[in-house]
Amino acid sequence: MRISDIEKPSVHYFQGNFAPVQEEHSNVLCTEVIGTIPDSLKGSFLRIGANPVFVSSEDAYHPFQGDGMIHQVRFEDGKAFYYNRFVETEGHLAEQEHGDVIWDGLNTNPELAAKYDFSKNIANTHMVFHAGMFLALQEAAYPFQLTLPNLDPVGEVDYSGKLVNPYSAHPKIDPRTGELIGNGYSVVQPPYCSVTVVDKEGQLSHTTTVDIPRPVMMHDCAITENYTIVLDLPCVFDFERMAQGKSMLHFDESNGARFGLLKRGENGDQIKWFDVATCYCYHTVNAYEEGDWVVVDGCRSERNSIGDEEKPAPGDRSDLPMLYQWRFNLDTGKVVEKALDKEWGCEFARINETWIGAKYRYSYAARIAGDTLESGFDGIIKYDMETGDSSHYPYGEGRLGGEPIFAPKPDGQNEEDGWVIGFVRDEKLGRSECIIIDAADFEAGPVARIVMPARVPFGFHSAWV
Ligand SMILES: [Fe+2]
Repeated sequence: MRISDIEKPSVHYFQGNFAPVQEEHSNVLCTEVIGTIPDSLKGSFLRIGANPVFVSSEDAYHPFQGDGMIHQVRFEDGKAFYYNRFVETEGHLAEQEHGDVIWDGLNTNPELAAKYDFSKNIANTHMVFHAGMFLALQEAAYPFQLTLPNLDPVGEVDYSGKLVNPYSAHPKIDPRTGELIGNGYSVVQPPYCSVTVVDKEGQLSHTTTVDIPRPVMMHDCAITENYTIVLDLPCVFDFERMAQGKSMLHFDESNGARFGLLKRGENGDQIKWFDVATCYCYHTVNAYEEGDWVVVDGCRSERNSIGDEEKPAPGDRSDLPMLYQWRFNLDTGKVVEKALDKEWGCEFARINETWIGAKYRYSYAARIAGDTLESGFDGIIKYDMETGDSSHYPYGEGRLGGEPIFAPKPDGQNEEDGWVIGFVRDEKLGRSECIIIDAADFEAGPVARIVMPARVPFGFHSAWV
């Protein structure tokens, strides 16, 4: 069924500002601006998310599914231009032509799907610009290349057939070497984990598999100058549960929780594992080396009830991601863990990416409004990782946002020289805005609020190109 035909949707993700949009826009000048767009801000702010067109039934929809759609604000000479477009993968286009859903997880009709020699790449999670290629990413699929600024489809990228597993949605560009480093994982059969390096020319230069006991949702990784860090945390894929009609993905503490440190270029059997306290971490913030220590910062929750029938009761914060630090001693094997914020939940923390893999000072995170991720993001927290201080920019009543991105100033020398950019939805005014904050003057709030010419639904990750 076509979602736009459902008169009164009962599913949260088809309501309010989660509801998908179907209209596309190209190069629309944004005429209403509160404040001033900096003249020197030049480039594109992009935000991707799941924007489904068809579903088998409302109940069958999972918020991680849904066709990828990219919303883009291109800045030039103090003006902003809006674009939004579906990520036109083969699967997306085939469903448009068929006029209904073809691939829908367990609800896929095998006879219908058998007519195609591909399955659907939903390419809806994150984006990266590397080696001249702009890629839409989703962790169960190959990267999908698009043009900028028009977002025309180019096709899947498998690095000359060398990718072992579907690629991560969160590879990191090493600013020192220009390499793109990411993990991949398989749910179905070993090897359940791989680590891949693509050089600055876009050639896959090294790939190795890493043995882990069970398939786990390994959503992100981290890098330092010399190490790639993989997270073997207990969100396991369990086919026995699936056979019982339960969610295949499940938090199972018996899996243990560990971080693996793999020296760049070494084979997976050289990986050094460090056990940590049970937790989940969708997203790391950054990692770096300090003497014998490797330091990893991330947004960590005590558990993840994603596959549970029962969700946390009101006031139960065990699912709430909060800023956290793990330190691993390469010489002694010692692990030191500490919470960096015990009050506020946050996710989607981004940094000035010139500092990826290096000791850094500032991060900019989406502030979580309540005790779980479902409560949405009601502001941005700027963390000073050196002093432990933080400053908050709350969006205001009735306003929620998403992942902020850091856009460096063209002539910037310092880590704070740049702008924090993100989308905000104002339900009272019934409009979407793109806000720009000077990172070095964060507490002053936005220098510009650009009223979007169309509704921008909530989504996943952002990129600056
Ligand atoms: Fe993510």
